Parts: sequence; C-alpha cells; structure tokens
Amino acid sequence: MPHKIAVLVGSLRVGSLNRKIAELLVRLRPDDLSLEIVGIGDLPFYNEDIEENAPPEWQEFRERIKAADAILFVTPEYNRSVPGALKNAIDVGSRPYGASVWNGKPGGVITASPGAIGGFGANHHLRQMFVFLNVLVMQQPEAYLSHASEIFDESGALADERTLDFLTNFLDAYAQWVTACLSHADVGQK
Ligand code: FNR
Repeated sequence: MPHKIAVLVGSLRVGSLNRKIAELLVRLRPDDLSLEIVGIGDLPFYNEDIEENAPPEWQEFRERIKAADAILFVTPEYNRSVPGALKNAIDVGSRPYGASVWNGKPGGVITASPGAIGGFGANHHLRQMFVFLNVLVMQQPEAYLSHASEIFDESGALADERTLDFLTNFLDAYAQWVTACLSHADVGQK
C-alpha cells in the first residue's frame, strides 16, 4: 500500500502557483506515495472558546490529517512568513491540547514565489513551528522555488524541465524519508 500523504497548500487563490505545483506533485508521485490535497480555505479561525463544540470543518480537517501517514506543505510566503490561512490550519490541527494531529508525523516543505528567494522566510517559519509540533520534517533536499511564475506557461503546462527533475528527485527523497520514519514508529513519539 502506498503511504498516504496529505498535501496542504498555503494559498487560497484560484490561479495559485503553489496549487499548480501541488497538483503537479500529485501527478508525479512515485509508486510508494499517494498524495491528496486537503483544503484549508473553509476552516473557521481558531478560537478556544468554541473548542468544546468544535465546528464540523475543524473536526473533518483533524480526521483527514490523522488518517494521513505524512504531510507535505506547499506554500507561498506572505510578508516573509506563513500565510494566515495556513497558520490557522496548523493551529486548528494542534488542538485540543494533547491531541495534536501533527505530533510525530513525517513532513516535507516546498515553498514557491515569483520572487528571487523562493519563500525562504515561510519555509523556515514552518520549520520553526515543526520543532514545537514535533513534525519530523525532512531536512534535505530543501525546496525554495524562486521565479515560480516561469515554471508554467500560459496554458498551465509545465514550462521548465529543471523544475520537473527537481520535484521528481524531491518526491523520491521524501518517499524514502517517510518510509524510514514510519518503519521506526517509536521515533519522534513523545
Ligand atoms: C505576497 N508575496 C510575497 N512574495 C514573496 O516572495 N515574499 C513575501 O514576503 C511576499 N509577501 C506577500 C504578502 C501578501 C499578502 C501577498 C498577497 C503576496 C507575493 C506572492 O509570492 C505571490 O503573490 C505568489 O504568487 C503567491 O502564491 P500563489 O498564490 O501564486 O501560490
């Protein structure tokens, strides 16, 4: 059975470059991974006051992440950090206290930007959160996709073979990482 990967896209924009990259990853997946994009756009803002009667959107989101073997984040950078919608999804998944859906999950991060530094700030702010959330994030290869508006042509087709090779290699390394983490099920548990 392929490992089940929940893919979270940090942009809600219809024409999102990051969504296109995530959709490309779904198509490129190696045989030992199955990738599914889990939506974050309809999650009400996290509010502890309503945790006891948690909104159904929170519950469904938590169940979908729990059911995944691992997680993969594909996100732009907003103001040198993580877009608010993605931070909200991370907060929703982290509660109630002691029942975080992120705990011990193998993870990966890809950031993409039309700018020159490929979302480095968001990438590393995510990694900072993963320390506390105990996400077992793959360190290498790192993935900062700069000039991302040049990856696809006007029809939406991939226009850059180097990116295709890079993402294929990234997914192979990620598949190995997930397999290694899952085969040592006690690693990263607390
Ligand atoms: C941006 N953008 C941006 N880009 C970047 O490289 N560093 C940044 O800090 C920011 N900050 C930022 C803030 C806000 C509020 C917006 C809306 C945009 C530009 C951003 O990278 C660009 O719009 C991408 O195309 C967004 O990703 P998607 O939606 O194409 O996936």
